[in-house]
Amino acid sequence: MQNLTELLSEKAAAAFAAAGYDDAYGKVTLSNRPDLCEFQCNGAMPAAKQYHCAPIAIAQAVAAKLAQDGAFSSAEAVMPGFINLKLSPAFLSAQLSAMAADARCGAAGTPVNRTVVLDYGGPNVAKPLHIGHLRAAIIGESIKRLYRFFGNTVIGDIHMGDWGLQMGLIIAELHARQPELPYFDPDFTGEYPAEPPFTISELEEIYPAASAKSKEDAAFAAEAHEATRRLQEHERGCYALWKHIMAVSVADLKKNYAKLNVSFDAWLGESDAQPYIEPMLAQVAEKGLARESDGALVVDVQEESDTKELPPCILKKSDGATLYATTDLATILQRERDFRPDKILYVVDKRQSLHFEQVFRVARKASLVRPETELQHIGFGTMNGKDGKPFKTREGGVMRLETLIADITDFVRGKITENQQVADSDVDATAQMIALAALKYGDLSNQATKDYVFDLDRFAAVEGNTGPYLLYTIVRIKSILAKCGKAAGTAILPPVGAEEKSLGLTLARFGEEMENAYRDSAPHAVCAYLYELAGAVNKFYHETKIVSEPDEERQAGYLALIDLAQRMLETGIDLLGFRAPEKM
Ligand code: ARG
Repeated sequence: MQNLTELLSEKAAAAFAAAGYDDAYGKVTLSNRPDLCEFQCNGAMPAAKQYHCAPIAIAQAVAAKLAQDGAFSSAEAVMPGFINLKLSPAFLSAQLSAMAADARCGAAGTPVNRTVVLDYGGPNVAKPLHIGHLRAAIIGESIKRLYRFFGNTVIGDIHMGDWGLQMGLIIAELHARQPELPYFDPDFTGEYPAEPPFTISELEEIYPAASAKSKEDAAFAAEAHEATRRLQEHERGCYALWKHIMAVSVADLKKNYAKLNVSFDAWLGESDAQPYIEPMLAQVAEKGLARESDGALVVDVQEESDTKELPPCILKKSDGATLYATTDLATILQRERDFRPDKILYVVDKRQSLHFEQVFRVARKASLVRPETELQHIGFGTMNGKDGKPFKTREGGVMRLETLIADITDFVRGKITENQQVADSDVDATAQMIALAALKYGDLSNQATKDYVFDLDRFAAVEGNTGPYLLYTIVRIKSILAKCGKAAGTAILPPVGAEEKSLGLTLARFGEEMENAYRDSAPHAVCAYLYELAGAVNKFYHETKIVSEPDEERQAGYLALIDLAQRMLETGIDLLGFRAPEKM
């Protein structure tokens, strides 16, 4: 379906033409003065420059034409040359009924022939998922859903940190603890055990222990480096151990991401980029981009138009070791070969923006991607505690994601049990849904680049700008529909009451609000709109007797209206990555 402002713009364009002006000036937008009008057209001002006359004269001529169109209850020219528009109730009702009959609630939905690789997650294998990875997962998942909703083919890639020194540390520590394992026996030629020699909890304890030890024990640190090197050469025993570490960690990661309602299409990682490092370096060399600097291999990325200094991108250290940037560049080559993406979008902490700037520039210079392929980094800020510092456990340690989710769920469960609206058997599932809504909305309602403060009391409140408030509104609509005991139709009547019209106008914006959020990769815009929508629903509900309305046709119109609101709210929260319960 066509967006409402597009439809109104066509009418305004026709009016400009009918008044003798270029129809290109007929662009209608939502009003920025909702107290004065619902929509506005500012085209008379630029038109006045072309036609050398007063903008108000043009605005008056165009408004006179628009006033004849049944779509508007008023079309007014105001100084210096604005055209203020209000929709007629009949036109609004026709528009809303068409939206209600549309499976996408009126949101435009032409599939675009575009493949996007979305790089989000970035957990480091064998280290527990922590809060730092939370935002990547929550924001990335929502952006993925927005892209899909608007017809893109999206490949969500988790891009695990699964290669390098952290793996060597684990292998070295395992060697110290269980030297008898066959993986460490160079003469062993048999088949290695299918069972891993550790559990996930052991693995999670091993990494920090090994990391701490390597800082104090130089011999151990050297052993870890040696193990890393042997792994990178695919030495049989090391490689078999690495496979075990991967299998155990990935199973655990899948479980944790599932709790967050986050899923990936590609479970690739830094290790998968390794075969592409040499071809990538060759391509860089072929273009004559690399130079030696103190034994290291670097590419200059500074450009004349830069206002600040951009250090060269280091591809190899003087000892031959490759770096984070090397892997990211190799990954670009791998993605280009496997997926031929039109865009690669990275949802990663904003503190890595210099890294991505360097990587993107090298990728362009070396033509690792086609010139038309877009590379974009969406950097997000930090989730802080109430003290304004990065969120920690009460003991001051790094908060694990699992613990955080469990804490929020317990908190919410307590509230649900108190309210006694939910059957005992549904309490757990409901608590999980509300907790996820609280957590995700608390995050997503902030502009991604900004830091925000994690505040459980506020996030989990049913009142205010929160996820649970949206769920509560959905549950309320469901309960009204159930009370009336009728299936809602799609015929929405011309509004009579002020809150009814205001709700209708809010619903009418759905398509373009979602589209703008998609265009700007801005889940916070989805949140802001849904909050407004929920507010309009609740105001309408308080003003209107829906269940006891004696006029059947009127009641059916109300039900169609709130049913459309519910579908939009549910579509919206699905784009944010959470769902609503039946009761709460
Ligand atoms: N593993 C990295 C980290 O924890 C994040 C990876 C982000 N993605 C990327 N392609 N560099 O910081």
